[in-house]
Amino acid sequence: MSQEKELAFSIIQIGDSGVGKTSIFRRYVYNTFEDNTVSTIGLQFSFKDVTLDNNITLKLKLLDTAGQEKYRSLSKSFFRNAHAALFVFALNRMETFQHITEWVELFKENHDRVDKIPKYLIGNKSDLIKSREVDQKLIDDLENQLGFKYFPTSALNNYNIDALFKDIANTLYQAYKDDKNDKGQKSLI
Ligand code: GTP
Repeated sequence: MSQEKELAFSIIQIGDSGVGKTSIFRRYVYNTFEDNTVSTIGLQFSFKDVTLDNNITLKLKLLDTAGQEKYRSLSKSFFRNAHAALFVFALNRMETFQHITEWVELFKENHDRVDKIPKYLIGNKSDLIKSREVDQKLIDDLENQLGFKYFPTSALNNYNIDALFKDIANTLYQAYKDDKNDKGQKSLI
């Protein structure tokens, strides 16, 4: 049991610049939000412990990649260590949704166990109701096509952020329990 308490997993966020990746992690880890953020330079890490309902604590390493094109090769080099991947678009910017399949392809090319890890589709900025550009039908279709679980979120309003990471933590722990001998689920931190 004590060994299980030291379980650690890396969660990576991927998506276009400005969709709110840094803001999602910031909301989850520090419960804060900033209006004027600076684009991520290279890559940022943060950490958070999460205790599941069964009292097992997981250590989450959160990898925040930069959406800007110039950092793409750096971001790619961190894909392979991820135990879970979040593909993020902004509900008020159609092109960020249209780019999701490209991000998924890039991720698949750079991860050896892509079919084995939990993957999520995240529609952030759900608070921007009037300027919303991406219809739910389009999201449903992509969700079915990719087979990823979809979460709408708002880092601004703190909508669905804790629920998202709770789901990820439970899914990671379940996968670990189902496949205890798989060293891909062990900590890389
Ligand atoms: P890169 O680091 O360039 O890849 O961008 P990013 O995806 O990390 O986006 P970031 O978190 O820096 O947010 C970009 C802008 O969107 C900032 O002005 C944030 O304040 C804003 N933002 C982030 N999340 C939300 C949200 O849920 N709702 C609203 N209205 N704005 C948000």
